[in-house]
Amino acid sequence: MFDRHAGGESAILVHIDFQQDLSQDKNQEDLSEFVELVRSAGLNVLDIITAKRSAPDPKYFIGSGKIEEIINVKNALDADLVIFNHALSPAQERNIEKAVQARVINRIGLILDIFAQRAFTFEGKLQVELAQLKHLSTRLVRGWTHLERQKGGIGMRGPGETQLETDRRLLRDRIKYIERRLEKVGKQREQGRRSRKRANIKTVSIVGYTNAGKSTLFNLTTDAQVLAEDKLFATLDPTLRRISLPQGTDVILADTVGFIRHLPHDLVAAFRATLEESVEANVLLHVIDAASERREENMEEVMKVLQQIGADEIPMLQVFNKIDAIEGAEPRIDRDDSGKPIRVWVSALKNQGIELLKEAIEELAIEEQFTGRLQIPPSKGRLRGYLYELNAIEQEQYSDNGDLVLQVQLPKADWIRLSRQLEEDLSGYIINAE
Ligand code: GTP
Repeated sequence: MFDRHAGGESAILVHIDFQQDLSQDKNQEDLSEFVELVRSAGLNVLDIITAKRSAPDPKYFIGSGKIEEIINVKNALDADLVIFNHALSPAQERNIEKAVQARVINRIGLILDIFAQRAFTFEGKLQVELAQLKHLSTRLVRGWTHLERQKGGIGMRGPGETQLETDRRLLRDRIKYIERRLEKVGKQREQGRRSRKRANIKTVSIVGYTNAGKSTLFNLTTDAQVLAEDKLFATLDPTLRRISLPQGTDVILADTVGFIRHLPHDLVAAFRATLEESVEANVLLHVIDAASERREENMEEVMKVLQQIGADEIPMLQVFNKIDAIEGAEPRIDRDDSGKPIRVWVSALKNQGIELLKEAIEELAIEEQFTGRLQIPPSKGRLRGYLYELNAIEQEQYSDNGDLVLQVQLPKADWIRLSRQLEEDLSGYIINAE
Protein backbone atom coordinates (compact mmCIF):
# COMPACT_ATOMS: atom_id res chain seq x y z
CA MET A 1 0.00 0.00 0.00
CA PHE A 2 2.86 2.34 0.66
CA ASP A 3 6.09 3.39 -0.92
CA ARG A 4 8.00 2.00 1.96
CA HIS A 5 10.24 -0.88 2.67
CA ALA A 6 7.96 -3.85 2.80
CA GLY A 7 9.05 -5.20 6.18
CA GLY A 8 9.22 -8.90 6.89
CA GLU A 9 9.70 -11.56 9.43
CA SER A 10 13.00 -10.68 11.06
CA ALA A 11 13.30 -7.71 13.33
CA ILE A 12 15.83 -5.75 15.29
CA LEU A 13 14.38 -4.18 18.41
CA VAL A 14 15.42 -0.83 19.80
CA HIS A 15 14.82 0.06 23.41
CA ILE A 16 16.08 3.29 24.92
CA ASP A 17 16.47 3.76 28.61
CA PHE A 18 15.60 7.37 29.40
CA GLN A 19 17.33 7.75 32.68
CA GLN A 20 15.30 10.51 34.21
CA ASP A 21 12.23 8.39 33.67
CA LEU A 22 12.05 5.13 35.52
CA SER A 23 14.12 2.82 37.59
CA GLN A 24 16.26 0.22 35.87
CA ASP A 25 14.01 -2.58 37.03
CA LYS A 26 10.93 -1.02 35.55
CA ASN A 27 12.67 -0.60 32.21
CA GLN A 28 13.79 -4.17 32.13
CA GLU A 29 10.25 -5.28 32.69
CA ASP A 30 9.04 -3.12 29.89
CA LEU A 31 11.71 -4.49 27.61
CA SER A 32 10.71 -8.06 28.30
CA GLU A 33 7.09 -7.21 27.65
CA PHE A 34 8.10 -5.52 24.41
CA VAL A 35 9.97 -8.62 23.27
CA GLU A 36 6.90 -10.64 24.13
CA LEU A 37 4.73 -8.29 22.07
CA VAL A 38 7.01 -8.63 19.06
CA ARG A 39 6.98 -12.42 19.29
CA SER A 40 3.26 -12.23 19.70
CA ALA A 41 3.07 -10.51 16.32
CA GLY A 42 4.74 -13.60 14.87
CA LEU A 43 8.07 -11.89 14.24
CA ASN A 44 11.54 -13.20 14.70
CA VAL A 45 13.71 -11.20 17.10
CA LEU A 46 17.27 -11.10 15.71
CA ASP A 47 18.83 -8.64 18.11
CA ILE A 48 17.96 -6.08 20.74
CA ILE A 49 19.76 -2.77 20.70
CA THR A 50 19.59 -0.78 23.90
CA ALA A 51 20.96 2.60 24.81
CA LYS A 52 20.79 5.18 27.52
CA ARG A 53 19.87 8.75 26.73
CA SER A 54 18.68 11.70 28.68
CA ALA A 55 16.27 12.92 25.97
CA PRO A 56 15.22 11.86 22.45
CA ASP A 57 17.08 13.31 19.47
CA PRO A 58 14.61 15.42 17.46
CA LYS A 59 15.69 14.06 14.08
CA TYR A 60 16.53 10.41 14.69
CA PHE A 61 15.19 9.83 18.19
CA ILE A 62 18.51 8.13 18.96
CA GLY A 63 22.10 9.29 18.45
CA SER A 64 23.97 8.91 15.16
CA GLY A 65 26.26 6.29 16.74
CA LYS A 66 23.24 4.12 17.46
CA ILE A 67 21.97 4.59 13.93
CA GLU A 68 25.33 3.28 12.70
CA GLU A 69 25.00 0.31 15.05
CA ILE A 70 21.54 -0.49 13.70
CA ILE A 71 22.84 -0.33 10.12
CA ASN A 72 25.70 -2.69 10.95
CA VAL A 73 23.53 -5.18 12.77
CA LYS A 74 20.89 -5.02 10.07
CA ASN A 75 23.44 -5.78 7.38
CA ALA A 76 25.17 -8.50 9.35
CA LEU A 77 21.96 -10.31 10.28
CA ASP A 78 19.93 -9.44 7.22
CA ALA A 79 17.05 -7.93 9.18
CA ASP A 80 14.18 -6.33 7.35
CA LEU A 81 12.36 -4.57 10.13
CA VAL A 82 13.40 -2.24 12.94
CA ILE A 83 10.93 -1.86 15.79
CA PHE A 84 11.17 0.87 18.38
CA ASN A 85 9.69 0.40 21.82
CA HIS A 86 8.66 4.05 21.76
CA ALA A 87 6.31 6.49 20.10
CA LEU A 88 8.35 7.95 17.24
CA SER A 89 7.17 11.05 15.43
CA PRO A 90 6.29 10.45 11.76
CA ALA A 91 9.34 12.49 10.74
CA GLN A 92 11.67 10.48 12.96
CA GLU A 93 10.26 7.26 11.58
CA ARG A 94 10.94 8.46 8.05
CA ASN A 95 14.42 9.73 8.82
CA ILE A 96 15.45 6.47 10.40
CA GLU A 97 13.95 4.49 7.54
CA LYS A 98 15.97 6.48 5.07
CA ALA A 99 19.16 6.04 7.06
CA VAL A 100 18.91 2.33 7.78
CA GLN A 101 17.13 1.30 4.58
CA ALA A 102 14.62 -0.92 6.33
CA ARG A 103 11.06 -0.57 7.46
CA VAL A 104 10.74 1.11 10.84
CA ILE A 105 7.70 0.80 13.05
CA ASN A 106 6.95 2.07 16.51
CA ARG A 107 5.11 0.55 19.44
CA ILE A 108 1.66 1.72 18.39
CA GLY A 109 2.14 0.35 14.88
CA LEU A 110 3.19 -2.95 16.38
CA ILE A 111 0.17 -3.21 18.65
CA LEU A 112 -2.13 -2.33 15.77
CA ASP A 113 -0.52 -5.06 13.74
CA ILE A 114 -1.25 -7.58 16.45
CA PHE A 115 -4.80 -6.37 16.83
CA ALA A 116 -5.27 -6.75 13.08
CA GLN A 117 -4.08 -10.34 13.23
CA ARG A 118 -6.36 -11.21 16.12
CA ALA A 119 -9.63 -9.57 15.18
CA PHE A 120 -12.24 -12.13 14.24
CA THR A 121 -15.63 -10.56 14.31
CA PHE A 122 -16.83 -8.00 11.84
CA GLU A 123 -16.89 -5.35 14.55
CA GLY A 124 -13.40 -6.18 15.71
CA LYS A 125 -12.05 -5.92 12.18
CA LEU A 126 -13.74 -2.56 11.70
CA GLN A 127 -12.31 -1.27 14.93
CA VAL A 128 -8.83 -2.32 13.99
CA GLU A 129 -9.08 -0.75 10.58
CA LEU A 130 -10.34 2.46 12.12
CA ALA A 131 -7.45 2.62 14.56
CA GLN A 132 -4.99 1.87 11.77
CA LEU A 133 -6.41 4.59 9.56
CA LYS A 134 -6.32 7.11 12.37
CA HIS A 135 -2.75 6.19 13.14
CA LEU A 136 -1.92 6.47 9.46
CA SER A 137 -3.61 9.85 9.05
CA THR A 138 -1.19 11.38 11.55
CA ARG A 139 1.63 10.00 9.47
CA LEU A 140 0.46 11.09 6.07
CA VAL A 141 3.03 13.40 4.55
CA ARG A 142 4.16 14.14 1.05
CA GLY A 143 6.11 11.47 -0.72
CA TRP A 144 5.25 8.80 1.79
CA THR A 145 1.95 7.31 0.81
CA HIS A 146 0.17 7.09 -2.49
CA LEU A 147 -3.26 5.80 -1.86
CA GLU A 148 -4.70 6.54 -5.27
CA ARG A 149 -2.03 4.56 -7.05
CA GLN A 150 -3.24 1.51 -5.25
CA LYS A 151 -6.85 2.29 -6.04
CA GLY A 152 -6.20 2.66 -9.76
CA GLY A 153 -5.29 6.33 -9.87
CA ILE A 154 -7.21 7.81 -12.75
CA GLY A 155 -10.20 9.82 -11.72
CA MET A 156 -9.50 9.54 -8.05
CA ARG A 157 -8.10 12.98 -7.59
CA GLY A 158 -10.51 15.88 -7.21
CA PRO A 159 -10.04 19.05 -9.27
CA GLY A 160 -7.03 21.07 -8.12
CA GLU A 161 -6.14 18.57 -5.42
CA THR A 162 -2.58 17.66 -4.76
CA GLN A 163 -1.82 14.04 -4.24
CA LEU A 164 -1.45 14.62 -0.55
CA GLU A 165 -4.87 16.25 -0.36
CA THR A 166 -6.39 13.35 -2.24
CA ASP A 167 -4.81 10.87 0.14
CA ARG A 168 -6.15 12.79 3.11
CA ARG A 169 -9.63 12.95 1.61
CA LEU A 170 -9.68 9.24 0.86
CA LEU A 171 -8.61 8.50 4.39
CA ARG A 172 -11.22 10.83 5.88
CA ASP A 173 -13.97 9.25 3.77
CA ARG A 174 -12.97 5.77 4.75
CA ILE A 175 -12.79 6.73 8.43
CA LYS A 176 -16.29 8.21 8.25
CA TYR A 177 -17.62 5.13 6.51
CA ILE A 178 -16.20 2.81 9.13
CA GLU A 179 -17.48 4.96 11.97
CA ARG A 180 -20.98 4.72 10.53
CA ARG A 181 -20.74 0.94 10.20
CA LEU A 182 -19.47 0.64 13.74
CA GLU A 183 -22.36 2.66 15.04
CA LYS A 184 -24.74 0.25 13.38
CA VAL A 185 -22.99 -2.83 14.70
CA GLY A 186 -22.97 -1.23 18.15
CA LYS A 187 -26.74 -0.84 18.00
CA GLN A 188 -27.17 -4.48 17.11
CA ARG A 189 -25.02 -5.46 20.04
CA GLU A 190 -27.11 -3.25 22.30
CA GLN A 191 -30.23 -5.06 21.14
CA GLY A 192 -28.68 -8.39 22.03
CA ARG A 193 -27.92 -7.09 25.49
CA ARG A 194 -31.45 -5.86 25.96
CA SER A 195 -32.99 -9.14 25.01
CA ARG A 196 -30.71 -10.91 27.48
CA LYS A 197 -31.91 -8.51 30.15
CA ARG A 198 -35.51 -9.13 29.24
CA ALA A 199 -34.93 -12.84 29.50
CA ASN A 200 -33.28 -12.10 32.85
CA ILE A 201 -30.03 -13.81 31.95
CA LYS A 202 -27.03 -12.38 33.72
CA THR A 203 -23.79 -11.62 31.99
CA VAL A 204 -20.48 -12.58 33.53
CA SER A 205 -17.59 -10.89 31.83
CA ILE A 206 -14.05 -12.22 31.94
CA VAL A 207 -11.49 -9.45 32.15
CA GLY A 208 -7.79 -9.54 32.90
CA TYR A 209 -4.28 -8.80 31.91
CA THR A 210 -3.10 -10.33 28.70
CA ASN A 211 -1.85 -13.91 28.99
CA ALA A 212 -3.59 -14.42 32.35
CA GLY A 213 -5.41 -17.45 30.94
CA LYS A 214 -8.80 -15.94 30.08
CA SER A 215 -9.33 -17.87 26.87
CA THR A 216 -8.18 -21.13 28.45
CA LEU A 217 -10.63 -20.63 31.27
CA PHE A 218 -13.39 -19.60 28.89
CA ASN A 219 -12.86 -22.69 26.77
CA LEU A 220 -12.80 -24.95 29.76
CA THR A 221 -16.03 -23.60 31.22
CA THR A 222 -17.87 -23.41 27.93
CA ASP A 223 -16.28 -26.21 25.93
CA ALA A 224 -15.97 -23.66 23.15
CA GLN A 225 -13.06 -23.42 20.85
CA VAL A 226 -11.59 -19.95 21.17
CA LEU A 227 -8.08 -19.30 20.05
CA ALA A 228 -5.78 -19.79 23.01
CA GLU A 229 -2.09 -19.57 22.45
CA ASP A 230 0.95 -18.60 24.34
CA LYS A 231 0.82 -15.24 22.71
CA LEU A 232 -0.42 -11.91 23.88
CA PHE A 233 -3.80 -10.80 22.62
CA ALA A 234 -5.12 -14.21 21.75
CA THR A 235 -8.57 -12.71 22.18
CA LEU A 236 -9.63 -9.48 20.64
CA ASP A 237 -13.33 -9.78 20.19
CA PRO A 238 -15.76 -10.45 22.95
CA THR A 239 -17.14 -13.92 22.63
CA LEU A 240 -20.34 -14.90 24.30
CA ARG A 241 -21.41 -18.33 25.50
CA ARG A 242 -24.21 -19.53 27.68
CA ILE A 243 -23.25 -21.75 30.61
CA SER A 244 -25.17 -23.53 33.36
CA LEU A 245 -24.05 -23.17 36.96
CA PRO A 246 -24.36 -25.93 39.59
CA GLN A 247 -27.68 -24.75 41.09
CA GLY A 248 -29.22 -24.41 37.66
CA THR A 249 -28.67 -20.70 37.03
CA ASP A 250 -27.82 -19.92 33.42
CA VAL A 251 -25.46 -17.06 32.69
CA ILE A 252 -23.78 -15.64 29.63
CA LEU A 253 -20.01 -15.75 29.87
CA ALA A 254 -18.20 -13.09 27.86
CA ASP A 255 -14.52 -13.30 27.00
CA THR A 256 -12.81 -9.96 26.36
CA VAL A 257 -9.54 -8.61 25.06
CA GLY A 258 -6.50 -8.71 27.33
CA PHE A 259 -5.25 -5.53 28.89
CA ILE A 260 -1.65 -4.44 28.51
CA ARG A 261 0.48 -1.89 30.25
CA HIS A 262 1.01 1.41 28.47
CA LEU A 263 -1.66 0.74 25.90
CA PRO A 264 -1.69 4.02 24.00
CA HIS A 265 -4.69 6.07 24.95
CA ASP A 266 -6.02 6.21 21.38
CA LEU A 267 -6.13 2.47 21.31
CA VAL A 268 -8.01 2.18 24.57
CA ALA A 269 -10.65 4.36 22.95
CA ALA A 270 -10.62 2.37 19.73
CA PHE A 271 -11.14 -0.92 21.52
CA ARG A 272 -13.63 0.35 24.04
CA ALA A 273 -16.44 -1.52 22.37
CA THR A 274 -14.80 -4.82 23.15
CA LEU A 275 -14.81 -3.76 26.78
CA GLU A 276 -18.32 -2.37 26.71
CA GLU A 277 -19.64 -5.83 27.28
CA SER A 278 -17.84 -5.62 30.62
CA VAL A 279 -19.41 -2.30 31.51
CA GLU A 280 -22.80 -3.93 31.19
CA ALA A 281 -21.92 -7.14 33.00
CA ASN A 282 -23.57 -8.23 36.24
CA VAL A 283 -20.41 -9.85 37.53
CA LEU A 284 -16.80 -9.43 36.47
CA LEU A 285 -14.34 -12.29 36.62
CA HIS A 286 -10.91 -10.78 36.98
CA VAL A 287 -8.55 -13.50 35.81
CA ILE A 288 -5.04 -13.13 37.19
CA ASP A 289 -1.85 -15.03 36.48
CA ALA A 290 -1.24 -15.70 40.15
CA ALA A 291 2.20 -17.15 39.44
CA SER A 292 3.43 -14.02 37.68
CA GLU A 293 6.04 -11.82 39.29
CA ARG A 294 4.04 -8.85 38.07
CA ARG A 295 0.81 -10.04 39.59
CA GLU A 296 0.11 -6.92 41.64
CA GLU A 297 1.05 -4.45 38.92
CA ASN A 298 -1.02 -6.24 36.33
CA MET A 299 -4.01 -6.29 38.65
CA GLU A 300 -3.63 -2.56 39.23
CA GLU A 301 -3.42 -1.91 35.52
CA VAL A 302 -6.65 -3.79 34.91
CA MET A 303 -8.40 -1.95 37.72
CA LYS A 304 -7.27 1.35 36.27
CA VAL A 305 -8.79 0.57 32.88
CA LEU A 306 -12.00 -0.69 34.47
CA GLN A 307 -12.25 2.60 36.27
CA GLN A 308 -11.73 4.48 33.01
CA ILE A 309 -14.60 2.66 31.36
CA GLY A 310 -16.84 2.98 34.42
CA ALA A 311 -16.91 -0.70 35.29
CA ASP A 312 -15.25 -0.51 38.69
CA GLU A 313 -18.45 -0.76 40.73
CA ILE A 314 -19.60 -4.04 39.26
CA PRO A 315 -19.32 -6.98 41.68
CA MET A 316 -16.02 -8.67 40.99
CA LEU A 317 -14.60 -12.08 41.62
CA GLN A 318 -10.85 -12.49 41.41
CA VAL A 319 -9.70 -15.68 39.75
CA PHE A 320 -6.17 -16.57 40.78
CA ASN A 321 -5.24 -18.79 37.86
CA LYS A 322 -2.18 -20.97 37.18
CA ILE A 323 -1.96 -22.38 40.71
CA ASP A 324 -0.27 -25.42 39.18
CA ALA A 325 2.76 -23.14 38.88
CA ILE A 326 2.66 -22.14 42.57
CA GLU A 327 4.07 -24.62 45.03
CA GLY A 328 1.56 -25.87 47.56
CA ALA A 329 -1.39 -23.94 46.16
CA GLU A 330 -4.71 -25.76 46.13
CA PRO A 331 -8.07 -24.83 44.65
CA ARG A 332 -10.13 -22.84 47.14
CA ILE A 333 -12.56 -19.97 47.60
CA ASP A 334 -11.54 -16.96 49.71
CA ARG A 335 -14.45 -15.10 51.29
CA ASP A 336 -14.86 -11.73 52.97
CA ASP A 337 -16.21 -11.26 56.51
CA SER A 338 -19.78 -11.51 55.33
CA GLY A 339 -19.03 -14.81 53.60
CA LYS A 340 -19.18 -13.41 50.09
CA PRO A 341 -16.71 -15.00 47.67
CA ILE A 342 -13.93 -12.62 46.70
CA ARG A 343 -11.31 -14.89 45.18
CA VAL A 344 -11.10 -18.37 43.71
CA TRP A 345 -7.83 -20.23 43.19
CA VAL A 346 -7.83 -22.36 40.05
CA SER A 347 -5.76 -23.87 37.29
CA ALA A 348 -7.45 -23.59 33.95
CA LEU A 349 -4.71 -25.64 32.35
CA LYS A 350 -5.02 -28.56 34.79
CA ASN A 351 -8.78 -28.19 35.16
CA GLN A 352 -8.56 -27.61 38.91
CA GLY A 353 -11.05 -25.58 40.91
CA ILE A 354 -13.47 -24.99 38.06
CA GLU A 355 -16.47 -26.33 39.97
CA LEU A 356 -15.57 -24.02 42.88
CA LEU A 357 -15.37 -21.17 40.44
CA LYS A 358 -18.81 -21.90 39.06
CA GLU A 359 -20.20 -22.11 42.59
CA ALA A 360 -18.73 -18.73 43.47
CA ILE A 361 -20.04 -17.13 40.27
CA GLU A 362 -23.48 -18.46 41.00
CA GLU A 363 -23.41 -17.10 44.56
CA LEU A 364 -22.46 -13.68 43.30
CA ALA A 365 -24.92 -13.72 40.43
CA ILE A 366 -27.74 -14.71 42.74
CA GLU A 367 -26.67 -12.62 45.69
CA GLU A 368 -26.33 -9.36 43.91
CA GLN A 369 -30.03 -8.82 43.44
CA PHE A 370 -32.06 -5.86 44.54
CA THR A 371 -35.53 -6.84 45.68
CA GLY A 372 -37.97 -4.29 47.05
CA ARG A 373 -41.12 -2.24 46.80
CA LEU A 374 -41.08 1.18 45.20
CA GLN A 375 -43.60 3.99 45.38
CA ILE A 376 -43.38 6.24 42.34
CA PRO A 377 -45.37 9.43 41.63
CA PRO A 378 -47.23 9.43 38.29
CA SER A 379 -44.77 11.98 36.89
CA LYS A 380 -42.03 9.31 36.94
CA GLY A 381 -43.35 7.23 34.11
CA ARG A 382 -39.87 7.04 32.65
CA LEU A 383 -38.56 5.12 35.62
CA ARG A 384 -41.37 2.59 35.24
CA GLY A 385 -40.50 2.29 31.55
CA TYR A 386 -36.89 1.50 32.31
CA LEU A 387 -37.79 -1.02 34.99
CA TYR A 388 -40.22 -2.62 32.60
CA GLU A 389 -37.52 -2.91 29.96
CA LEU A 390 -35.24 -4.57 32.50
CA ASN A 391 -37.98 -7.07 33.21
CA ALA A 392 -37.68 -6.05 36.85
CA ILE A 393 -41.36 -5.49 37.72
CA GLU A 394 -43.01 -8.43 39.43
CA GLN A 395 -46.19 -6.73 40.49
CA GLU A 396 -47.75 -3.31 40.11
CA GLN A 397 -50.66 -1.53 41.72
CA TYR A 398 -51.80 1.98 42.57
CA SER A 399 -51.83 3.51 46.02
CA ASP A 400 -54.73 5.68 47.28
CA ASN A 401 -53.00 8.90 46.24
CA GLY A 402 -52.45 7.70 42.70
CA ASP A 403 -48.80 6.74 43.10
CA LEU A 404 -47.58 3.62 41.44
CA VAL A 405 -46.44 0.86 43.78
CA LEU A 406 -44.06 -1.62 42.19
CA GLN A 407 -42.62 -4.85 43.49
CA VAL A 408 -39.26 -5.13 41.73
CA GLN A 409 -36.36 -7.51 41.50
CA LEU A 410 -33.28 -6.72 39.48
CA PRO A 411 -29.52 -7.09 39.67
CA LYS A 412 -28.02 -4.60 42.10
CA ALA A 413 -25.64 -3.43 39.41
CA ASP A 414 -28.60 -2.56 37.16
CA TRP A 415 -30.25 -0.66 39.99
CA ILE A 416 -27.08 1.41 40.53
CA ARG A 417 -26.74 2.00 36.82
CA LEU A 418 -30.33 3.12 36.55
CA SER A 419 -29.71 5.84 39.13
CA ARG A 420 -26.76 6.97 37.11
CA GLN A 421 -28.66 6.88 33.86
CA LEU A 422 -31.57 8.91 35.22
CA GLU A 423 -29.20 11.16 37.15
CA GLU A 424 -31.35 10.79 40.20
CA ASP A 425 -30.99 9.16 43.59
CA LEU A 426 -33.65 6.46 43.43
CA SER A 427 -33.39 5.36 47.04
CA GLY A 428 -36.13 7.86 48.01
CA TYR A 429 -38.70 5.73 46.18
CA ILE A 430 -37.98 2.57 48.15
CA ILE A 431 -40.67 1.82 50.70
CA ASN A 432 -39.16 -1.46 51.69
CA ALA A 433 -36.22 -3.50 50.52
CA GLU A 434 -35.38 -7.09 51.26
P1 GTP B 1 -4.96 -12.77 25.86
O1 GTP B 1 -5.99 -13.19 24.90
O2 GTP B 1 -3.65 -12.44 25.27
O3 GTP B 1 -5.45 -11.68 26.76
O4 GTP B 1 -4.59 -14.03 26.78
P2 GTP B 1 -5.51 -14.88 27.74
O5 GTP B 1 -5.64 -14.22 29.07
O6 GTP B 1 -6.77 -15.24 27.06
O7 GTP B 1 -4.58 -16.15 27.98
P3 GTP B 1 -4.65 -17.62 27.31
O8 GTP B 1 -5.87 -18.34 27.75
O9 GTP B 1 -4.39 -17.48 25.86
O10 GTP B 1 -3.41 -18.29 28.04
C1 GTP B 1 -2.11 -17.78 27.95
C2 GTP B 1 -1.10 -18.86 28.26
O11 GTP B 1 -1.20 -19.26 29.63
C3 GTP B 1 -1.28 -20.13 27.43
O12 GTP B 1 -0.03 -20.63 27.09
C4 GTP B 1 -1.98 -21.06 28.39
O13 GTP B 1 -1.72 -22.40 28.10
C5 GTP B 1 -1.36 -20.66 29.71
N1 GTP B 1 -2.24 -20.99 30.84
C6 GTP B 1 -3.56 -20.74 30.95
N2 GTP B 1 -4.03 -21.22 32.13
C7 GTP B 1 -2.99 -21.78 32.76
C8 GTP B 1 -2.84 -22.45 34.02
O14 GTP B 1 -3.77 -22.65 34.80
N3 GTP B 1 -1.58 -22.87 34.33
C9 GTP B 1 -0.53 -22.68 33.52
N4 GTP B 1 0.65 -23.13 33.93
N5 GTP B 1 -0.63 -22.08 32.33
C10 GTP B 1 -1.84 -21.63 31.95
